[in-house]
Amino acid sequence: MDDMEIFYEIQFGLPRQGPGSDEMTRRALGLLPPFNASSKILDVGCGPGKQTVALARNTPATIVALDNYMPFLGQLRYHAEAKKVADRIDIVCASMFNMNFKPESFDAIWSEGAIYIAGFKNGLRDWQRFLKRGGYMALTHITWLDSNPPDELWRFWQEGYPEIAALRENSTTIAECGYRLIDTFTLPESTWWNEYYTPLERKLPYFRDRYAENPAALAIVESAQHEIDIYKKYSRYYGYVFYVMQKA
Ligand SMILES: C[S@@+](CC[C@H](N)C(=O)[O-])C[C@H]1O[C@@H](n2cnc3c(N)ncnc32)[C@H](O)[C@@H]1O
Repeated sequence: MDDMEIFYEIQFGLPRQGPGSDEMTRRALGLLPPFNASSKILDVGCGPGKQTVALARNTPATIVALDNYMPFLGQLRYHAEAKKVADRIDIVCASMFNMNFKPESFDAIWSEGAIYIAGFKNGLRDWQRFLKRGGYMALTHITWLDSNPPDELWRFWQEGYPEIAALRENSTTIAECGYRLIDTFTLPESTWWNEYYTPLERKLPYFRDRYAENPAALAIVESAQHEIDIYKKYSRYYGYVFYVMQKA
């Protein structure tokens, strides 16, 4: 098994693949005008699709859910069928770097915890062409909540995602990329734990046993633990912020 396979083996089956909650998805939706039955929303990096199903349950729109990892899309389908919204969710297995939709075909683009893969600025610029004029973009993104992080935390993010920036800097980027920022709000700490870190941390002892004789795999397990420990120690310095904006 290569490193990515072990990573996905550890991550698979969690309700979410990052911080979030149905309540936060609804709060962001509440900042937008209502959608109708002919509206289309693109959910980029939908993963197992908790937010996709929340969008389908709280709007009459069709949701196009895109991710490049097929097992997550299977999880999404199962969840959508259980909630009886599968008929309004079109599942697309493709890379966000190679999206093949018609220009200006979506009323909104949604992306919870996934724009970092494209890069914040790059994703804002690249995805814009799929939005109708005046269309909306709603996304969550890792953000400094305090501009003076301790050294250990600074190094952690320099290694993991050096593009991390403060809200003010991200707001400037949003304006530079041709959007009008409508509002932002920070996700509460409970959204990191309830459907993500708590179930992930519970699985780690099993993988420590399973990979006791495999140092490379064990390092991946311990890096998941390290990420959780860093959050336990420093959650007041960084968080996920919902950015809700309109194509200018
Ligand atoms: C941090 S997870 C967030 C998933 C989901 N939105 C959630 O909050 O549970 C990032 C997602 O992006 C997907 N992903 C990674 N690289 C991708 C790519 N190049 N194209 C599309 N999706 C990608 C992963 O499979 C994963 O589901």
